[in-house]
Amino acid sequence: MGTELLEGVTVLDLASVGPAARASRWLADYGADVVKVGPVPAKSGVQIAPPFFSYSAHRRMKRVLLDIKAPEGRDAFLALAAEADVVIESFRPGVVDRLGIGYAAVSAANPGIVYCSTSGFGQSGPKSQQAGHDLNYLASGGFLHLTGAGPDGGPPIPGATVADSAGGGMHAVIAILAALHHRAASGDGLGRHLDVSVADGVLALMALSVDEFLATGQDVEVGSNLLLGRYACYDTYQAGDGKWLAVAAIEPRFWANLCGLLGLDKWTRHQNDDAVQDDIRRDMAEVFRTKDRDTWVAELAPADTCVSGVLSVPELVEDEQFAARGAFVTAKHPAHGTFRQIGPVLAGMVPADEPYVCRESDATDTDELLARAGLAADRISALRDQGVVA
Ligand SMILES: CC(C)(COP(=O)(O)OP(=O)(O)OC[C@H]1O[C@@H](n2cnc3c(N)ncnc32)[C@H](O)[C@@H]1OP(=O)(O)O)[C@@H](O)C(=O)NCCC(=O)NCCS
Repeated sequence: MGTELLEGVTVLDLASVGPAARASRWLADYGADVVKVGPVPAKSGVQIAPPFFSYSAHRRMKRVLLDIKAPEGRDAFLALAAEADVVIESFRPGVVDRLGIGYAAVSAANPGIVYCSTSGFGQSGPKSQQAGHDLNYLASGGFLHLTGAGPDGGPPIPGATVADSAGGGMHAVIAILAALHHRAASGDGLGRHLDVSVADGVLALMALSVDEFLATGQDVEVGSNLLLGRYACYDTYQAGDGKWLAVAAIEPRFWANLCGLLGLDKWTRHQNDDAVQDDIRRDMAEVFRTKDRDTWVAELAPADTCVSGVLSVPELVEDEQFAARGAFVTAKHPAHGTFRQIGPVLAGMVPADEPYVCRESDATDTDELLARAGLAADRISALRDQGVVA
């Protein structure tokens, strides 16, 4: 295995699902030592237990269970945090301070801590206390409105939890890496509190449309510009076998290639002519219906036409491009056997030997981690007897 970019970085993750859990997944895939911190099961049902395969089945992560509402559990967390580089939490704003493990408490013990709070709307503002999930933040940030209308006229549910993963998870990773870089580069060794709002992250993803409106005063709507479906050159079309094609021939030369190969040269000069877009769409739809999806892709995709098949999940996991990139790896779980999962695919991640070893969801490393944080063995065993750790 080559050098991992986040080797030696320790992360405590208090979240079980959502944007924070996605962030810690990626940090672990960059080589950070990620410790999931959960509640003691007998005392609390506060965390959602995701299915075993979620978050890559928590490969390469450790786990500690603490009742943080008990003073001894809070102190155990602070002992762990004193040695950590990053804390990630995603409770409702105010909860961590109530528990005595907020930024003030942790940075008093460890001024270098990079403390990332991910929440739906951020730590401040009139919506900060509102409960919510991916769809709420996509709605608030304008994404859902511009997704258009489904069969019943309302915005369809998007095919991925974009707010959680990009607006929250990737947002948190970027912020954490920037803070770690600054801590090292400034030489002061100080961390900071990062207030990651998923809704703010969605807003950043919506910048093209929102900035267009702010700069021009023109309302941005479905169909109002090239990337929102105004032109036939950027749309989806159904093939003869009922499967779908994505066409994104933006550049005039790629559009010309496409028109030529579809036998529709007459439209080459009308790519951006609003008056005939319905006619172009009608002709393209008719031609695309004459062959099945994969035949079209085989003919058009290599010819600089920006045409792709709309792949289902079972199709994409067999896709030759992802296979060539080594995108899928084998993992092994004591209860679920051997299965495939998405590997460490982001740039700079270093693949490990396969199969990736996944553990039972109730496996813990409490003794090892608390011992490393300075707690004596008899103290840990007393805490376990009291139900404060598990
Ligand atoms: C997801 C969310 C709506 C759930 O709300 P909730 O179930 O009311 O949970 P909260 O975050 O308000 O509080 C968590 C509780 O667990 C307790 N808790 C958490 N970890 C604990 C531990 N290890 N030991 C003991 N108690 C623990 C907290 O003390 C708190 O209880 P309290 O309010 O009695 O103090 C909320 O956490 C939230 O808005 N998070 C930010 C946005 C987000 O992540 N959304 C999900 C995106 S998909």
